[in-house]
Amino acid sequence: MALGMHPFTQDREEFERLGARTAGMLGEYLRALPAQPVDRVVPEEARHRLMSLPMPDTGLPADEILEFLRREILPWPVSVGHRRSYGWVNSPPAPIAILADAVASTMNCGLDGFDHSALFLMSSLGRWIMELVGFPTRGSLCLLLSGGSAATLNALSAARHHAAERAGWDLRKEGLQGGRARLVAYASAESHSSIQKCVEQLGVGTDNLRDIEVDDAFRMRPDALRRAVEADLAAGHLPFAIVACGGATNTGAIDPLDAVADVAREFGIWLHVDGAFGAWAALDPAYAERFKAVARADSVTLNPHKWPQVPVDCGALLTRHPDAHRAAFSLTPDYLPAGNSEVPWPCEYMFQLTYGNRALKTWAALARLGRSGLAELVTRCNRLAGLLDARVRVAPDLELLAPASLSVVNFRYRPAGRRLDDAALDDLNQRISAAVSESGEAHLPTSRVRGRTSLRACFLHYENDEGDVDHLVGLVQRLGSELAA
Ligand SMILES: Cc1ncc(COP(=O)(O)O)c(C=O)c1O
Repeated sequence: MALGMHPFTQDREEFERLGARTAGMLGEYLRALPAQPVDRVVPEEARHRLMSLPMPDTGLPADEILEFLRREILPWPVSVGHRRSYGWVNSPPAPIAILADAVASTMNCGLDGFDHSALFLMSSLGRWIMELVGFPTRGSLCLLLSGGSAATLNALSAARHHAAERAGWDLRKEGLQGGRARLVAYASAESHSSIQKCVEQLGVGTDNLRDIEVDDAFRMRPDALRRAVEADLAAGHLPFAIVACGGATNTGAIDPLDAVADVAREFGIWLHVDGAFGAWAALDPAYAERFKAVARADSVTLNPHKWPQVPVDCGALLTRHPDAHRAAFSLTPDYLPAGNSEVPWPCEYMFQLTYGNRALKTWAALARLGRSGLAELVTRCNRLAGLLDARVRVAPDLELLAPASLSVVNFRYRPAGRRLDDAALDDLNQRISAAVSESGEAHLPTSRVRGRTSLRACFLHYENDEGDVDHLVGLVQRLGSELAA
């Protein structure tokens, strides 16, 4: 059989037409989103269709593929992207970053190394990111990984390697099975679940992740941290990392970074700040002081796919010790001539080899916002959380469960003039959250604060304003009173 033009060649020749069709579809999606229900459920038939597609024997026409995406995929997102989606810490995608990502896919040059433009851009971008949050740039390195979990795993791998090396332990050769001292790490119960996952992945085990007490505002207590480190050292253990919250996901709590850094320095332990969500608030004058000690951290996790609105996925790792990362990860077989370049090859400082070019979308979002644009966004979101906090405090039927910190507020509906116990309020607020989703007007998932079910709101969208706070308070009060009746 004679071979016709390869389908990919055909698409390349028609790229402008197909691209214009795609751009039209995506523009329509982005502009229609604000008027759509916030939470949408994939209908039963659509789920079934999507799960039972047969692999086509011969390739489909490109236009049919685009039509499938328009008809079967675009209508059913999770609520991320809508300004009234207050769940988790997920941002909408910056439109310019979507387009820059298409440039990265088109060039298809991984950010692992070699000699291409994005690798050099990465030097400027890494410097920008470090400067934005006050992390020292000199001798430091920024890597763009798949998210906060990957960034923290990378940092803690380097911290573990560093501590082992100082104890005369060749971790890469011996592994963890040589009967060496027990590795221990420290974090508060408010820390993100990814910290536990990392400790598990590193073979340290959750028994050796010390759960450091928090104060009334959910912040790690430095005195409790010091006592835990002293006890471990007295027992002959090997502390390798302290992980401080630079903005807890659940409550927005910020550990006292300066005091925690004092303990880390006193005992010579690697300090990692998990600022995946919060450390961008170094740009908000109301929070800048609390993030100053980011400058004293050995490493920081910071997610561009949160406040800077970079489309998923992108988590930045900032480290003062590129050498420790290189010692922990570098492996250069003959076919990989890494290390001779003007700029570091990321693949030498991390577990992955080939990996995506997240630099262009991140650069595009930050360049489009500028320092002042990002500062304005972060400051506005924090101010809106403060406003919601104030509205909840004066409402007779709402109760604050954790005060606003960063752009997060935890509260619950509590019918005025009626005595309901915590179990009844938990159930009521769970139903309110579900009713909010069903209304299509917002997405407001529940969490738990001191064992009580909370409605947890997080502001992150580039368009959030005071009208959103008014709307949210009114919606919860209306649905709450209907459900409580
Ligand atoms: C404070 C904090 N740390 C870590 C993470 C984990 O980041 P990722 O989901 O990008 O892996 C998140 C968010 O999910 C977070 O909010």
